Amino acid sequence: MNKITIIGAGNVGATCANVIAHKDLAKEVVLVDIKEGVAEGKALDIWQSSSINNFNSRVIGSTNDYLKTKGSGIVVITSGLPRKPGMSRDDLIKTNALIVKEVTEKVIKYSPEAIIIVVSNPLDVMTYAAYMTANKPSQKVFGMAGTLDTGRYKAFLAEALDVSPKDIHAMLLGGHGDTMVPLPRYTSVNGIPVTELLSTDVIEKIVERTRKGGGELVNLMGTSAWYAPGAAAAQMVEAIVDDQKRIFPICAYLNGEYGLKDIYLGVPVKLGRKGVEEIIEINLDADEKKLLVDSANSVKETMKVLDDMNLF
Ligand code: NAI
Ligand code: 2OP
Repeated sequence: MNKITIIGAGNVGATCANVIAHKDLAKEVVLVDIKEGVAEGKALDIWQSSSINNFNSRVIGSTNDYLKTKGSGIVVITSGLPRKPGMSRDDLIKTNALIVKEVTEKVIKYSPEAIIIVVSNPLDVMTYAAYMTANKPSQKVFGMAGTLDTGRYKAFLAEALDVSPKDIHAMLLGGHGDTMVPLPRYTSVNGIPVTELLSTDVIEKIVERTRKGGGELVNLMGTSAWYAPGAAAAQMVEAIVDDQKRIFPICAYLNGEYGLKDIYLGVPVKLGRKGVEEIIEINLDADEKKLLVDSANSVKETMKVLDDMNLF
């Protein structure tokens, strides 16, 4: 791909740009931030590792100059406040909605064809805000959360089983928050159902730790995580650039799928060059369905805050 832009050169944005450059996913990687010099500095630092880490992607930074982003094929939006201890993702909504709207308008002006991946929190609602602003098909506007949340779930399972995380395959549904729905019934260790390898009690503890995975890191570090979030967003970028048709849980627009309408929520999709190429509807038992509906209701509650802002 010719150009990939990352808006927000903070912890997640810079990490994402670094992984994208390492994987040589674009000729040019553009980092944008409003803080004078920060994007330029981080871009220069990453670029100076190119000969050491063996990549060609030219990484450049810009302080709010969107002309440099012109013609991007993919734009990752990470601009916005991160969560601090005691702050829920929902507390962030008012500030971040204004930021996401403003940056999406600028992105679209210079890259009308770009696929947009939203990372800013609260994720499901910010993705909706970007969709409303961008005014383009929902297949091209979606959010990153499930690749991170399954990453955490797989890491905990790999630790409990003392196996390679590469061998854990898992699916997860719902909003990016404490109501997310990891699915042990759709989790295997290279085909062996995890339910045959771990007790219900241990699995339930891991599911609960996954749901609170973001908060665990906020409590440890005083701000939210960035290595896994940055890598998770870059994994989605890679699937699009290389047209991999990977099946990932991502935050996608639902128009009747899973019985839900006009909401962005985490579901399995096929991700390729066109963006969301298919939403996959898996069979859910009654308990799983209830958890998904509860999660959707929790996202809808947060959506009310966005609705009341009358931005669209
Ligand atoms: P950070 O504070 O390190 O970086 C955010 C950057 O955005 C700052 O450098 C800031 O100057 C910039 N920014 C603010 N307004 C801007 C604007 N109008 N235009 C351009 N840049 C602007 O925060 P961090 O840790 O990178 O997190 C970024 C966002 O991602 C937060 O909202 C956080 O909650 C969210 N997040 C979401 C995850 C997910 O799974 N979806 C995981 C981790 C973080
Ligand atoms: C995370 O899950 C806070 O959304 C952020 O790390």
